[in-house]
Parts: sequence; C-alpha cells; structure tokens
Amino acid sequence: MKFEFSNRMRNVQASAVREILKAASDPKVISFGGGNPAMQAFPVDSIKTISNELFEEDPISMLQYGITEGYGPLRESAKAFFNRHEQVSKEYDDLIITSGSQQIMDFLAKCLCNEGDTIICEDPSFLGALNAFRSNGAKLIGVSLEEDGINMEELEKAMQQKPTPKFLYVIPNFQNPMGTTMSLEKRKKTYELAKKYGVLILEDNPYGDLRFSSKAVPSIKSMDEEGIVLYAASLSKIIAPGMRVAVAIGHKDLLSRLTVAKQVADVHTNVWAQRVMDRFLRTTDMDQHLKRLQAIYRDQAQLMLDTIKEHFHPSVQYTKPEGGMFIWATFPDDVDVLEFIQEAIKQNVAVVPGSAFMVDENAPCHSIRLNFSTPTKENIQKGIKILGDLTYKFCR
Ligand SMILES: Cc1ncc(COP(=O)(O)O)c(C=O)c1O
Repeated sequence: MKFEFSNRMRNVQASAVREILKAASDPKVISFGGGNPAMQAFPVDSIKTISNELFEEDPISMLQYGITEGYGPLRESAKAFFNRHEQVSKEYDDLIITSGSQQIMDFLAKCLCNEGDTIICEDPSFLGALNAFRSNGAKLIGVSLEEDGINMEELEKAMQQKPTPKFLYVIPNFQNPMGTTMSLEKRKKTYELAKKYGVLILEDNPYGDLRFSSKAVPSIKSMDEEGIVLYAASLSKIIAPGMRVAVAIGHKDLLSRLTVAKQVADVHTNVWAQRVMDRFLRTTDMDQHLKRLQAIYRDQAQLMLDTIKEHFHPSVQYTKPEGGMFIWATFPDDVDVLEFIQEAIKQNVAVVPGSAFMVDENAPCHSIRLNFSTPTKENIQKGIKILGDLTYKFCR
C-alpha cells in the first residue's frame, strides 16, 4: 500500500540528530552528539529504594489509572520545588504533570495553532520543539541568537508580523544547542515586547538547575503579571529522562485546554514514575543532589573547554556555557562543516551539524554542537584532540 501522509507530518524530517546518534551507537565511536545526563549523575539507588518501598506499601495504586492533571501530591511537591528560589507559579496559574516537557511544546502548538499560523523561535533552537511545532502545521519564524540571548530588533519585527504570531519559544538558560544564557536585560525586554504585541511566551527551562558558574538570572515567568508566560520545567535533566516527568505551569485557562490535549494524547503521565518522583523530591536533599550534578558538569565542561583551547585552530569560535550540557563551535565561513563531520565520523568521533537546529535547515550554518555531559573524561580528551587535529586541516 502507498501511504498518503498528512501535510502536517510530511513536512517533518526524521531528526538528523537521531540519525547521527544511530551511527554513534557503535561502541568504537566517541559521541559528542547526544544530550543525555552523565551516567554518574543518575540517582539509581534512591530510585530503586523508593520504587520498592512504594510497591510494598501500595502496589495497585502504582499500576492503576490516574488523573490527567497528574498525581496530586507530585503537583504539590513539584510546585514547591520549582518555586523554591523564585515565585514561578502565580495565583492565577495552574500546574499539570506531562510526559516530558517536549509534550508541552506539542500541546501548546496543538491548542493554539491552525495550519500556517506562526511561532517565533530562537534560531538555532531545540530540534524536538521545532519538530513538535512543525508537526502541528505551524510555520516557524527564526530570530538570531546571540551570546546574551535573542536579538531584540529581530524579535520586535517578528512580533509585529500580521497575523500576530501565536507564541514565542525561548530557552533562556544554557540554551540547546548554543549553551548561551539570556541576560536579565533581554529577559525583561522580551517580556515587555510580548506584552506590547500580545504574544504568549513559552519559556523552556530544563537546564536551569544545572548551573555550574555565575549567578542565576530570574526566569521570565517570575516577572509575569499578566499570565502570558507558560513555563516548561522538567525532571529529565536533573533526575532521569527515561521516567518522562515534566511540569507545565501557566494560566489556568490555558492549562485547562492543555489538559484536554493531554487526555486525548496519553490520558496521563505514568503513575509509577510520578509517584517515585514525588517521593524523591520529598525525601532527597535536593540542594545536595543538584550540587553533585553541577560539580560533574562543571568538570566535564571545563575539561572540554580546556581541550578545545589546546587543540582547536584559533579561528574556531566557541561558546563558554555557565551550565547545561552543550558548547557551540563555529568555523570560518569557507569551511564545509558537513565534510568536517564526515571526516570526524571516519575517525570515530560523532558531532551534530548546527544546521539540524536551524529553523531553515538549508540555510548556511558553520557550526557544530558539542555535548560534554555524556562522554567520559578520557573520551573528551581523545575525541576533542581528533577534532582539533581536523580543524587544522579545514581552517587556514
Ligand atoms: C531545551 C530542551 N527542552 C526540552 C527538552 C526535552 O526534555 P524532556 O525529556 O522533558 O521532554 C530537551 C531535551 O533535550 C531540551 O534540550
């Protein structure tokens, strides 16, 4: 049978990152392509103990259907956790548990966008979100991303477009793929522009608690007084992504629609995972837990930066993240980055082309994304040296 796919899905390509990761699954390959937490960051013993305890105490309720909004006690513990440093949730807000935060991107686009409606995104941006938007028929308007966040002039022009874009998607902390952090000034200005032009903001913050240097910058959501920011928080990067537990915090009228979208999609997030997460948040010294993770990522990032400095051709520019999992390296314009990546794979090192994260995947892009959380220290040194030697072949 010849399958006739919908226009919505026809426009979405299989993720280039996943294709590269397939090549990188060969154990010989050193991969800087993924975005997984470090192996040593997983709280395996605690999760095992908690899960066993809960099964002893109340096995059926771990396995029974739950409610769409999420397990009540987790909604409370997650709210307290994400409010612990700043007031993220407001009086007019509600909070629901989702199966990972990528689901929030999918649901928001599904609830707000008709075919051809527009969404403004940082360019480059998180591929999973871009594909979630595309798969809901939205057209993307890319706004350049700079070291201190989105370009304000371009953002204002994008917001002025008619019909008004449905929302703006931003990752202010340790952006994926660039590793950059939006300045306080730009956060305030972004919020003011959104208010002025009536554009909702989707603030995605899965990496905020993985800050390993400099001081935290307030979230845009904490500045919101109008109910125009939907905040996506996730437990993936700080506890375990395989459990698929995230949190959407936003105006209750918006969340009631998102809840209907969730009911249609998967009824509710896995109850077992939600109950384990709830007890983990309640019984773990989260500051200690996060300090341990931050120390791991600080070390890994510093090692990668030092090795890049030592081995990369000086014409290659790169970001210096204050947290998260990624460094973005940019080659001079005359370098064919795809050829560089192919050469690297021949020498068993995998990296992702920056073009995979661009709103227009065919636009020229001379960057690569390097992940420092997953590889071992030995492999960071070995792999970056191989890439560094290659930069001397490709750059003059
Ligand atoms: C910026 C960003 N947002 C969201 C996600 C998705 O996380 P989750 O596991 O919560 O779906 C990722 C995962 O890599 C990400 O980089």
